[in-house]
Amino acid sequence: MKGVFLTLEGGEGCGKSTQLELVASALRLRSGRNVVATRSPGGTPAAEKIRTILKSREPGEELRPETELMLFGACHAQMCANLIRPALESGSVVVSDRFTDSTLVYQGVARGIDPDAVRRVNDFVCAGVRPDLVIVLDVPVEVGLRRAAVRSGAQTAQDRFDSESASFHNAVREGFLALARREPGRFAVVDGAQSPEQVTESILEAIHERLAII
Ligand code: TMP
Repeated sequence: MKGVFLTLEGGEGCGKSTQLELVASALRLRSGRNVVATRSPGGTPAAEKIRTILKSREPGEELRPETELMLFGACHAQMCANLIRPALESGSVVVSDRFTDSTLVYQGVARGIDPDAVRRVNDFVCAGVRPDLVIVLDVPVEVGLRRAAVRSGAQTAQDRFDSESASFHNAVREGFLALARREPGRFAVVDGAQSPEQVTESILEAIHERLAII
């Protein structure tokens, strides 16, 4: 495939969503290539509908970890087939706010599903689509949760993931750092506690060092 695929990952409130637009705009300017910004769960009409199920609470019924795995898998199948693969085949740069490394960490580490089972689902739904570079925005859990609380202050429904325990969020942070240690060539860890402008610069530096697009 001619395109380049990079993802922004990290725990709640790490700043990915702010960085998605900043990084996509900078890449458009500096690389001169078509840049597609997307998010998981979401990114296509069907996957955005699945996002609503995943993020909200169903009164009286908990979503099983296995159900989460299947629903995130369904989102990624839609994203890969209908958005990411066609964009990469046409030579675009795709930047996604989360992707399958979130499934490995949230469902495989924090929810305790066998990581090999999660990998098999990821491989099955993506059919060869894989990020060339994963940027992990690392922030202390307290900082991230404080930011997430400010962000969701205006919303009435509580986000299912934001309201998880501190140990869940610690497992998420450690999970991403462990993935980065395992594959240092494909992952870059950026300090997400810096100012938004500094975070953008650090991300662009990591892209410059590892991918020949800027
Ligand atoms: P966010 O887009 O606001 O970060 O919300 C997405 C939530 O879904 C976030 O809490 C992480 C979680 N998630 C998973 O548990 N597994 C996944 O595979 C993905 C993509 C996200």
